[in-house]
Amino acid sequence: MDEQLLARMRSTPVLAGSLPRFDPGHADPAPGRQFAHWLGDALDDGVPEPHVMTLSTADRDGRPSARVLMLRGIDSDACAFVFASDAGSRKGHDLSANPHAALSWYWPLHGRQIRAAGSVEVLDAETARRDFLGRGEPSRVAGFTGRMSAPLAGPGAYDEERRRATGLVAADPGAVPAGHTVYRLRAEEMEFFQGDPDSFHVRLHYVRQGGDWRRGLLWP
Ligand SMILES: Cc1cc2nc3c(=O)[nH]c(=O)nc-3n(C[C@H](O)[C@H](O)[C@H](O)COP(=O)(O)O)c2cc1C
Repeated sequence: MDEQLLARMRSTPVLAGSLPRFDPGHADPAPGRQFAHWLGDALDDGVPEPHVMTLSTADRDGRPSARVLMLRGIDSDACAFVFASDAGSRKGHDLSANPHAALSWYWPLHGRQIRAAGSVEVLDAETARRDFLGRGEPSRVAGFTGRMSAPLAGPGAYDEERRRATGLVAADPGAVPAGHTVYRLRAEEMEFFQGDPDSFHVRLHYVRQGGDWRRGLLWP
């Protein structure tokens, strides 16, 4: 790695400044609700794009892959997280072969990391329809290019496909691409990490046990 770049990277502070304190004794017994508290804090304090998260999946051979997605809904009581994508994409193929997946968020302004892992299910077609039709036109046009994750010959091929999709959406504004899918990850475990500038990080881990949650601290 370029020495100058390395020096600049290493001198960039992390978990610095005045971070909130987290008293795990006052955490919500339900991690979905604890997530909602922290998301509310992030929105209140202007954490950039707190609803962007990393989804990690693995294919049928266990090979992992990760990408960022938008969080499109939360069921705090059920501790479930909703996102949308194309079933024909790499993640779509991974999830149909192996429903186990993980989500993670990092909110630098608060030094907070949240992790969730569980099983992903596909929601019904009406939910997918409502999700898709609630989007702006550019997003709907992009949805109709319908080849997410496949090799693209060049920018020209995408322009051409966009033109075709724009015509399609204009002709039938209520159309929904067959692959548009809304997924729901129901967490089996969650972790809330509160970073500290002096490395007194706090990690609170929840594991689903029957209808309830067991929680405990983890070594940082
Ligand atoms: C900020 C941001 C938000 C994104 N949101 C989504 C999303 O909600 N759904 C989606 O399918 N892709 C979204 N993407 C694109 C994905 O990161 C990824 O490129 C795409 O889904 C293909 O991933 P895959 O090949 O692993 O299936 C987003 C990308 C960025 C940078």
